[in-house]
Amino acid sequence: MTNDRGSWGSRPGFILAATGSAVGLGNIWGFPTQVGQGGGAAFVLIYLIAVIFICAPILLGEVLVGRYAQLGPAGAVRRISPSGPWWVIGLLAVAAGTFILSFYAVIAGWTVQYLWLAVTDGLAADAEGSGALFGAVSANPIRNVLFTGLFLVATAWCVNRGIRRGIEAASRLMMPLLFVLLLILAIRSVTLPGAAEGLAYYLRPDLSQALNPEIIGAAVGQAFFSLSLGMGALITYGSYLHRSHAVRSASIAIVGIDTTIALLAGFIIFPAGFSIASFSSGSTFDPTAGGPGLIFAVLPQLFATLPGGLLFGAAFFLLLSVAAFTSTISLLEVPVAHAIDQWRWPRSKAVLAVAAFTFAFSIPSVLSFSGGFFSELPAVGGTFFDLMVNVWNEGALPLGGMLISLFIGWRWGARFAGDELRRDGPGFPSPALWGFLIRFVSPAAIFLLIVSRFVL
Ligand code: PHE
Repeated sequence: MTNDRGSWGSRPGFILAATGSAVGLGNIWGFPTQVGQGGGAAFVLIYLIAVIFICAPILLGEVLVGRYAQLGPAGAVRRISPSGPWWVIGLLAVAAGTFILSFYAVIAGWTVQYLWLAVTDGLAADAEGSGALFGAVSANPIRNVLFTGLFLVATAWCVNRGIRRGIEAASRLMMPLLFVLLLILAIRSVTLPGAAEGLAYYLRPDLSQALNPEIIGAAVGQAFFSLSLGMGALITYGSYLHRSHAVRSASIAIVGIDTTIALLAGFIIFPAGFSIASFSSGSTFDPTAGGPGLIFAVLPQLFATLPGGLLFGAAFFLLLSVAAFTSTISLLEVPVAHAIDQWRWPRSKAVLAVAAFTFAFSIPSVLSFSGGFFSELPAVGGTFFDLMVNVWNEGALPLGGMLISLFIGWRWGARFAGDELRRDGPGFPSPALWGFLIRFVSPAAIFLLIVSRFVL
């Protein structure tokens, strides 16, 4: 093993970094948007069930595999099962990390541009609520290629510094900032005039939506994405743990913080959204606005009209940028760790190669918003960007999660996996409970979901 692998300086360092991976655009943009489209609190309910029964056991499993093998997904799988078809888990992980990063960085680039606009008063352009600002920002290919590239360069710089001096140090700096911003924004938001309507919407479940398979599918996909599961990010981060570091409470903390932050983001977005109506005459808030609408078109309107709103807006987009950054770091680290472990590349070469490839591949995602070929792919009837989101977020991650749970539960085997868990001493969940969930509950639930979504 080369010295390029690295390790965490401490267990809290690992928890912060893994939480940084989990908390991202998925929590602050994706979750509220999906709640809006999925019938409010009904979606929240399904989401919580998915997190507890399907995702949390897999998260613990991923960390455990990583700690055991001290290798990224491909190496870890091969270490446990030198032959057999399980290598696809590693392949899927490297591909998902690279391709998700390619479109994630585009949105991250918008968040930085919006931060700039908030600071320089540029958000005022959206006071009329026409959504023109988002059109102008997203349709400018050159500027978006530039900001996507800048975000990737910053990410690459950090990953290149290594586990302790790069990833862990960045997480230690950014996660506290993120928590503080989040709390300030949530308090500001629920005390806005008209906020009560938003809270009612967010907290009152429309149970007629709860059994809709499409919404269940979206909720499970969202849970995977939000927890960075199904693509070995947590195998990779787990592999930098010392074998003596306990993983149970760390995993529970990661799941708990990620979920709390997604829920908190709802307390920012919905009251703020509904409160717009009381500021700008004639405009109403549509919580079901899909895609980028909610965050990048609706909220800027509020920031532009609310007294002191630009400060609120600047804090909000700073929050988004910071959250995105600790996630892009982990997306990049998965393929980088692969090149280091499997191909014995030096870290710097791996970072450069993956970042350059990802940057090139981000261009069609950028062009998805500026008209032309990539904004209306003939074969899929949507944008290239939408295609990427569907394939990776809603397809590859749940599929990867199912394979990982089957691999852990049946190939590594509940007994050996349980032994690895027992190294931590007694605690919750017990090896028996966890073994049951990861052998039966998680894979069966995901299987049913995939069948219902893509086959029926
Ligand atoms: N969990 C991140 C988010 O919520 C996205 C992510 C997915 C990061 C997969 C790493 C791996 O935004």
